[in-house]
Amino acid sequence: MVAYKSRMVERITLPDRETRERNLEAAGYNVFNLDAADVYIDLLTDSGTGTMSDAQWAALIRGDEAYAGSRSFERLEEAVADVMGFSHVVPAHQGRGAENVLYGGLLEDGDVVLNNTHFDTTRAHVANQGAEPVDCPAAGAFDPDDGSPFDGNVSLECARAVVDDVGPDAVPVVIQTITNNSAAGQPVSVENTRRVRAFADEIDATFVIDACRFAENACFVGRREPEFADVSVAEIAREQLSYADAVVMSGKKDGLANAGGFVATDDPSLYETCKQRGILYEGFPTYGGMAGRDLAAMAVGLREAVEEAYVEDRLEQVRTLGEMLTDAGVPIYEPTGGHAVYVDAETALSHLAPSEFPGQAFVCELYREGGVRGVELGSFAFPDADRPELVRLALPRRTYHREHLEHVVDTAAAVLENGDDVRGLRIESESAIPELRHFTAELEPILA
Ligand code: F0G
Repeated sequence: MVAYKSRMVERITLPDRETRERNLEAAGYNVFNLDAADVYIDLLTDSGTGTMSDAQWAALIRGDEAYAGSRSFERLEEAVADVMGFSHVVPAHQGRGAENVLYGGLLEDGDVVLNNTHFDTTRAHVANQGAEPVDCPAAGAFDPDDGSPFDGNVSLECARAVVDDVGPDAVPVVIQTITNNSAAGQPVSVENTRRVRAFADEIDATFVIDACRFAENACFVGRREPEFADVSVAEIAREQLSYADAVVMSGKKDGLANAGGFVATDDPSLYETCKQRGILYEGFPTYGGMAGRDLAAMAVGLREAVEEAYVEDRLEQVRTLGEMLTDAGVPIYEPTGGHAVYVDAETALSHLAPSEFPGQAFVCELYREGGVRGVELGSFAFPDADRPELVRLALPRRTYHREHLEHVVDTAAAVLENGDDVRGLRIESESAIPELRHFTAELEPILA
């Protein structure tokens, strides 16, 4: 069932093929360097790119821009308490700001942090505190054909092995990222969350949930975990988050906002630490680097994110794109996750070696062929990790319609049709920080 109609529109245009070719070359075969105006369908990210509702726009206009004691912050506190179940909120300008606030308060040099898979910014903020981020993904997390219902889970076996190795005192923080963005947006079961909670208690660690996509995760739980078959998304979300000592949130995802983030907790001492760090890095605790109107929009967005009609529509659109791509013969990671379809470029462009960046080559062809922008999450983005060559097509929330998806599918099918002719790429220039190279590096086609 469709849950929305459009009441505001934004003009988009498809530049002609010659212009697209020129743009690609000028961008150094890196789509981060393209002007958004030159992109027809933009599936680069689901972060902050969604469409706000009429209720969010109404709240935005009434935003309270007071430096201290803003009414909009109170609305956010109420929404976080109602939707997520936490009484203390430290706002931040976006998710990574919240990560800095939280992990700076929890970590010290030499610590080890466990997570199903650290998202890039999480990994960077853990490392920035001198700690070591260690991934413990589920066994099939990086297997596009595994098909397990909860490939986003934390592997407790892996977590135990790490603790056996380094000792429990070295692991002060265990994180669970729901859904697991780095593993094709796969969900995490509530059972796994309970087990991680128990494990964190065993080793006396703080249990943090990265809740960026908590509502999408809850919807998957309702569909796939028998215990929750008749439980509402709102109730599942609260239950899952209730096991955490703290959540770290990017409001640009399941906050349905264009900006913002926060840390939330019930722990008064952790709250106090985060509040002080928040003042230092983000702003006074009743705005935290956000405009009052953005706080207001996020407060409404959080409530909308757990509405059944919204989140069902959301997952259905991602599933539909996956199904249409599969029908067109495009290999994808199955089942699809919550926010994106991940194309298996290793299979799609099997004649290219990982060193020739098949994922990035596929991304460039999507733009050349149809002005579609996706993002590579393989050898180019993760130089030192043993990851599959995936291309993420992330759907902004409430933004594109079926006709847009049809164009994406036609484009991907056209790329595959001439797949054997697609050339690999080599890096021409890159940043000094290997983990960040995919944002700015420039490449060139490898000539036969
Ligand atoms: N954690 C996860 C799981 C994320 O996916 C992101 C952002 C962050 C933290 C950081 O949040 O961007 O508000 O600072 N992911 C975006 C993406 C950028 O495209 O997947 P942020």
